Amino acid sequence: MNLIVSPGHPLHGYVALPGDKSLSHRAALLAALAEGESRIENFLVSGVTQAMLKALTELDVPWKLDGTTLTVQGCGLNRLRPPKQALDCGNSATTIRLLAGALAAAGLPAVLDGSPGLRRRPMGRIVEPLQAMGVPIEPSDGGTAPLKLTSRPPAQPLHPIDYTLPVASAQVKSCLLLAALAADGPTALREPGPSRDHTERMLRSMGVSITSEQLSVDNSKAENPGNAFYITRIIPPHEGALRPLRLTLPGDISSAAFLIVAALVTPGSEITLRDVGLNPSRTGLLDALQDMGADLQIVTQNERHGEPVGDLRVRHSRLHATRVNGPLVVRMIDEFPAFAVAAAYARGTTLVSEADELHHKESDRISALCQELCSLGVQASETPDGFIIQGGQALQGGTVQPHGDHRLAMSLAVAGLAAQAPVTVEGAEIISESFPEFVMTLQNLGADLRHGS
Ligand code: S3P
Repeated sequence: MNLIVSPGHPLHGYVALPGDKSLSHRAALLAALAEGESRIENFLVSGVTQAMLKALTELDVPWKLDGTTLTVQGCGLNRLRPPKQALDCGNSATTIRLLAGALAAAGLPAVLDGSPGLRRRPMGRIVEPLQAMGVPIEPSDGGTAPLKLTSRPPAQPLHPIDYTLPVASAQVKSCLLLAALAADGPTALREPGPSRDHTERMLRSMGVSITSEQLSVDNSKAENPGNAFYITRIIPPHEGALRPLRLTLPGDISSAAFLIVAALVTPGSEITLRDVGLNPSRTGLLDALQDMGADLQIVTQNERHGEPVGDLRVRHSRLHATRVNGPLVVRMIDEFPAFAVAAAYARGTTLVSEADELHHKESDRISALCQELCSLGVQASETPDGFIIQGGQALQGGTVQPHGDHRLAMSLAVAGLAAQAPVTVEGAEIISESFPEFVMTLQNLGADLRHGS
């Protein structure tokens, strides 16, 4: 399906966003592992979360979706049923990696698989530490999905580990935290960057003992030659059941990112985004944009169910270039497609480095982004660990490809809002993986987007 974006329409109004994707995955899965009924409001209903819910059905966990309210009858880790067929995780790396951790803890035999795109994503990063914990798991040749777990006797606990993740990754950390629920001692996970900590916050609210510590540079050198500045420690609950969840999820800041950049680059725009998740491990894009001169303000902020939430006001701004590297990369890891569009409209040379992880997302986001932005007349070039954008020139119209990547599709549509001629995004149905309401939301704000052939 094509999406045709015609430029020249300022955006105005208020937006309530669908629930956070990372929190929706975790809430559904952790609710399944709890004892009793959980109720999750503003659950994200989209392609990737459907994959998680279908997997829960295969594991015999009863759940019900009423609009965006999800209720789950949790039956505890030990009462999941071995799936009768391979669990299809679709395009969702969060689903496959978190499920692998939960099934490892449960000791169940299962095959975890997904789309051709998911089969290209690296799984060695969970398989190796899981094997070190004694989990019988094997990837396919090349260290990718399908992943095969064989059963483990229920009375046999997993080994606790003290493990340094080679790259900061919340999916890997969460997988290992879930497996560690079945270990017979405390596990410590060390990371080189501040990956999102939603699993820790949620597990803590369910009664699990988890601490997070950030080491100073000096301590880190002494204790962790691997440059691991962030340590998460978990003590597995002794017999204690996980408490069920009662949550209203905040709007997804990673979906908000497209609307924020849309308002910043489209002359005459002013929008307010209500009830957006503002966990500091996710707000790197806001910092980067403010550094570029964005008129972007958090107008209210409070905490709900252990997660910071607030309203954001964004106005069209004359942006200038910036540099992004280090921990900021981790704090905006999903936002580079939207950020690159902001950089294309910003005066000067923007440089992103230390962002190798972008090669391993839904697409190779370094090469795919540069290729598609170049086709709109942007001077964008790849570097081995990031990209350089010479911004501030007018963007041409044209036809672009999202490379099967929902975030690339939305970013390229946003690029079209202030281009000199219409932009057609081919294969735009991929957007429904994470933000099915994207087109309607922009239309309600005044943008001219329509589906066409
Ligand atoms: C996610 C973690 C990140 C992010 C992904 C969601 C999560 O992946 O890119 O969209 O929910 O834990 P990595 O853990 O691979 O960095």
